[in-house]
Amino acid sequence: MRSVTASDPGLADPLPETPIPTLVRWIGDARACDAIPNPEAMAVATVDEAGDPQVRLVLCRGFDPDTARFELFTNYESDKGRQLAARPRASCVFHWDLLGRQVRLSGRVERTSEVRSDAYFASRDPHSQLSAWASQQSRTVADRATLEARLAAVRAEHGAGVDSPIPRPPGWGGFVVVAERIELWSARAGRLHDRARWVRTSDEGETLAWSVARLQP
Ligand SMILES: Cc1cc2nc3c(=O)[nH]c(=O)nc-3n(C[C@H](O)[C@H](O)[C@H](O)COP(=O)(O)O)c2cc1C
Repeated sequence: MRSVTASDPGLADPLPETPIPTLVRWIGDARACDAIPNPEAMAVATVDEAGDPQVRLVLCRGFDPDTARFELFTNYESDKGRQLAARPRASCVFHWDLLGRQVRLSGRVERTSEVRSDAYFASRDPHSQLSAWASQQSRTVADRATLEARLAAVRAEHGAGVDSPIPRPPGWGGFVVVAERIELWSARAGRLHDRARWVRTSDEGETLAWSVARLQP
């Protein structure tokens, strides 16, 4: 295993004005590391109707460095989909243990455009597309056989994606987390780790500059 604490210089000192260049580099490092099977795995925390936190992993399928927007795709009728519709804010974490790095981010959540959701859905393999049709994500189901019967039914209806493309289910698409807060954590020797948090305010149409502070580990 690569020892990052020995070779990684950690966060720059003084800290950069924005977290973006470091984040771009870290995401690139994670993607380039063959030993990390799911570099895009991101925990997403939402708040349910009782006010309780709920967290689960998703895959972050888009990161726009210019706007600090992180995109995920899911079922809008799932627990997380309903929670994000009711309270469109999320807190997310990436953790790349092998690289000794953690990224925390939070901010407001918007729905991805229909056009973009269509394009992403079209890029998925037909098995995943049919599963998206078959699964009423987060609802209970009597048994595995019921789920497989539903998959067979949607395959009979839509085909296997060979003769004609499988359309996107109406309740399936993307969300974008517009980061208003990003914290970078870098493992350092003796657990005297590096931490820094960048915060910005963003309203519709206007995004203010980042302000940064170094945090104690
Ligand atoms: C590594 C990993 C990646 C996942 N990626 C996604 C994803 O991109 N979208 C998704 O809806 N669920 C994904 N899941 C499943 C979710 O963790 C979760 O079980 C599901 O979305 C239902 O969550 P909810 O009931 O809170 O809505 C993933 C699970 C794992 C372990």
